[in-house]
Amino acid sequence: MTTLEQTSTVRTARRAAILNPGHGDIFTDHMFSMLWSPADGWHQPEFGPLQNLSMHPGMIGLHYGQVAFEGLKAHRRVDGSMVVFRPHEHARRFQTSTRRLAMPELPTDIFVNAVDQLIAADHELLSDDPAHSIYLRPIMFATDESLMLRPSENYRFLLMAFVAGGFFGDRVDSVSVLISRDYCRAIPGGTGGVKVAGNYAPSFVALQQAQAAGCQQVVWLDAVERRWVEEMGGMNLFFVRSTGTGTEVVTPELTGSLLPGVTRNALLSIAERAGYRAREERISVEQWREECAEGIITEVFACGTAAVVTPVSSVRDPAGGGDWTVGDGQPGPVTMTLRRALVDLHHGLVPDTDGWLHPVPTER
Ligand SMILES: Cc1ncc(COP(=O)(O)O)c(C=O)c1O
Repeated sequence: MTTLEQTSTVRTARRAAILNPGHGDIFTDHMFSMLWSPADGWHQPEFGPLQNLSMHPGMIGLHYGQVAFEGLKAHRRVDGSMVVFRPHEHARRFQTSTRRLAMPELPTDIFVNAVDQLIAADHELLSDDPAHSIYLRPIMFATDESLMLRPSENYRFLLMAFVAGGFFGDRVDSVSVLISRDYCRAIPGGTGGVKVAGNYAPSFVALQQAQAAGCQQVVWLDAVERRWVEEMGGMNLFFVRSTGTGTEVVTPELTGSLLPGVTRNALLSIAERAGYRAREERISVEQWREECAEGIITEVFACGTAAVVTPVSSVRDPAGGGDWTVGDGQPGPVTMTLRRALVDLHHGLVPDTDGWLHPVPTER
C-alpha cells in the first residue's frame, strides 16, 4: 500500500468512526494550552493542533495527583448553529475543584474563550446526527519537576475535545447497578464534591466488581453510615416517586461528598417546569428497596453530561435482601419526559428560557 493509500485508509476509518463515535476515543483536531507561574500568573496562551506533550518524569501532577478536570458538551442545533451547555457553570466548578487542590483558579472568561475557539475550529467534525455531540475536556495539572510532597508552583491548563456518540429518542438503554459495599467513593472532608483525577482511579476496582456481578454500574453509599445513596459511577441519581398527590422527582441532597452535577441542577428546574415536585433529600438503600416493592418508587435514573439521562432498571445488593427491579425494568415515562426535555433543549427544539445555551460563532 502506498503512503497516499495508507493516509486515505486512515481518513476513511476516521470518518467512519466520527459518524459512529463511542465515548472518548475520537479526539478532535485542536487543543488550547496556557501556563501559570507565580511571577506571570496565567500566560502563554497557545491554540494549535492536538499533539503529544513532553514532560519531566518527576512532574508533581503525575505523582501526587494534583490534577483537576471538567467535562462539558457542545451540541448542534437543528438550525445548524453550535451551542455549549452552561460553560460558565463548568468554569465555576473547575475553579472550586482547583482551589480544593491548592491550585490557581482559571478565570471564567479564559475558560469560555478557549471553549469557543476549539468549537469554532473543530465543529465540522460533528455530524448532523442529534445523538452526537462534542465533549470538551478542560484539565489543569501541576508541572513542577520535583518529588517533594508539596503543592506545585507551576501549572498547565489544557483544553481538548472528542466527538461523542450517545442515544436519542427511544433508543435508550437501561443500566443495572451493584450497590458497592466494599468501597466508598468519597468521605466527609474529602474531595467527592469536586472533580479531581484522584476520585476516579479508585472507582475502577468497584466497577470491575459490578461487571463481575453482571451489572453495568456502581452505586456509591455514604462512607459513614454506609446506607445513604450518593451517586452512580460518575453520575447523579434521581428517584421518581408516585404519591397520592402527584409525582415527586427526588435527588440525594448535596452533602459535600457528592458532585454537584450541572445536569442534576438543570433537571431539578426542568422537572418543576414539567409539573413534577422536584426535591433534594437523602434516601437510603432500604428505602429504595422497600419503596420499589411497594410501588412508590416507580423509576430511577442517572444523569450527567456524558450520560444525559440514563434509566436504572435493576439493583443488586451484596449485603443481602436480594436483588430488585425498578418499576417494570423499562425506561419509565417521567425519565423519558425529562430526557426528551433536556435533549430538545440541547438541540434548539424548545426555547432556552434559562439562558443555559452559550452560542458559539462558527462558519459552515
Ligand atoms: C462523580 C460525578 N458525579 C456526577 C457527575 C455529573 O455531573 P455533570 O452533570 O456536571 O456532568 C459527574 C460528571 O461530571 C461525575 O464525575
